[in-house]
Amino acid sequence: MCGIIGYIGGNDVGDILLKGLSRLEYRGYDSAGIVLIEEDGRFDVIKKEGRLYNLVGPVHDRAIKGCVGVGHTRWATHGRPSDVNSHPHGDASGSVWLVHNGIIENYRELSQSLVKKGHRFLSETDSEIIAHLIGDEFSKGEVSLHEAVRRVVSSVRGSYALGIVHRDFPDRIIAARHGSPLIIGIGENENYIASDVPAIMDRTRKVIYLEDGEVAIVKKDSVKVFDLNGNPVNKVPCEVNWSIEEAEKGGYEKFMLKEIFEQPKAVENTIIDRIGPKGKTVTFDDMEFYPQQARKLRRIYIVSCGTAFYAGYTGKYILERLTSIPVEIELASEFRYSDPKLQSDSLVIAVSQSGETADTLASLRMARENGCKVLSIVNVVGSTISRESDWVLYTYAGPEIGVASTKAYVTQLTAFYLFAIYLGEMRGDISSGFASGILDELKNIPGKISKILEHEADIRKCAKSFYKAESALYIGRNFNYPNAMEGALKIKEISYMHAEGYAAGEMKHGPIALIEDNYPVICICTKGKTYEKMISNIREVEARNGQVIAIANNGDSIVREIAHNVIEVPEAMEELSPLLNVVPLQLLAYYVACERGCDIDKPRNLAKSVTVE
Ligand code: G6P
Repeated sequence: MCGIIGYIGGNDVGDILLKGLSRLEYRGYDSAGIVLIEEDGRFDVIKKEGRLYNLVGPVHDRAIKGCVGVGHTRWATHGRPSDVNSHPHGDASGSVWLVHNGIIENYRELSQSLVKKGHRFLSETDSEIIAHLIGDEFSKGEVSLHEAVRRVVSSVRGSYALGIVHRDFPDRIIAARHGSPLIIGIGENENYIASDVPAIMDRTRKVIYLEDGEVAIVKKDSVKVFDLNGNPVNKVPCEVNWSIEEAEKGGYEKFMLKEIFEQPKAVENTIIDRIGPKGKTVTFDDMEFYPQQARKLRRIYIVSCGTAFYAGYTGKYILERLTSIPVEIELASEFRYSDPKLQSDSLVIAVSQSGETADTLASLRMARENGCKVLSIVNVVGSTISRESDWVLYTYAGPEIGVASTKAYVTQLTAFYLFAIYLGEMRGDISSGFASGILDELKNIPGKISKILEHEADIRKCAKSFYKAESALYIGRNFNYPNAMEGALKIKEISYMHAEGYAAGEMKHGPIALIEDNYPVICICTKGKTYEKMISNIREVEARNGQVIAIANNGDSIVREIAHNVIEVPEAMEELSPLLNVVPLQLLAYYVACERGCDIDKPRNLAKSVTVE
């Protein structure tokens, strides 16, 4: 997704913008650009298709230093990746320059009036229209720059985060947001705008989160925020408590590997302080969900996308095991256009690492419009989804930079266990003995994940046995069926190997036709009520000369006898087994991608945070 950075102050603007953009690379992009303006109105626009390093030489060789500037990494939506479609975009006179994240849905309509006035557009983007509209409005001479921006954004349909500069006003950046994230970083006699915190966290920890419909005037020594009616809005800066090391690789080759190894800590952080003193109950100091609310629930809908969808899918199994409430699992991109029979006694749970995913956010808004309460399970504090929810259950995974989600997934599952126990106990659906048994086991999970990670080298060896395959099948049952889909998603995302995640019982209804000599089938076969059934599935694969890679419990001699490769995981209660079994699946995907020479942290065509539809 596009990333925005802006800086105003006395330091080297070009350098700060480049560093900020490099911290936004993880969001996925295909081109990048910056504009910087000097106090006397001279300006430079440097923009290029491809990687950020294409900008480095031209930015360093530029004639002017600048006192203000904005930069952008573009992930193409309207118009192919090219130099000319890269941001910043200028208005007709070359005075207004802007960077934009989002999609302007009515840009054709808006462009018509401009074309009639003789405007010509250089790019194929929707964003350029906004620059022209602002320039046009401002050139009438009736209003200030921020007022011109306010008028233009009021006529726009769609989503935007905008950073705008004007060569005649080098003392300010105008920032505006609706539907796409934008923050303002507060420094000492210098200020920033950015799409997210990692872009500026080496420079400041004080941030203001802009809300939808807000327009800000950012000067080097002041920030003023207004709503769309022009009324001032009082904003209180928040302190960011992530460390820079947390957002950087910390000695690991890739962010994804680092994040896989951070999982024991991430799970621990998510449960810590949430298990009551005697270990029998769950408490949420940060969320007031009352017993009467728990008792009146008749249905739960879980909505999410990507990996968060599979976490939600497992969440359905968890909630249905620990409570008496029926649970529906929905892809947010489908849910928002469907006709669910939402009622006031339904609860919608939105799951999102970033808290900014467009479809999940739209589903949340639809649910609330229909009178439903929304609880979100979110990682990024202060994100849009967290702000718009009735309750937020934060996962404490820390910043997740690798595009392929790992530690966010296990913490999302952890949050589901906690919430399900909380609900189950409040409603009297589970005994306190069962609840405390699960909680005891949950406390052991970080240690058990660490044990699996100790065998990383064996998993790497196993990845080498099938990395050349064109396709693979992942199968699991019950609690581990969503894990099979997540394992397949992981390998698709980062190694580009085609993979299918299937409920093992469905194998005979199609995917078994794929199995031939050496075809890799990854079978999740840990102890539980479907263990015997999984053994039968493994035998079926073996009988057709497929290559069985099994995830099984330590010392399982039955599986060892029939599988070609076994990755062992410690035993755990069946309900909690997904938290362990997903770890080898992540590492398998990681090492297959390594063997195939893929760019793991920035897989092609993918974005970390999908903030447009
Ligand atoms: C993108 C990311 C995935 C993520 C999904 C949902 O597709 O590449 O890793 O699972 O978005 O993102 P969210 O931030 O809502 O969890």
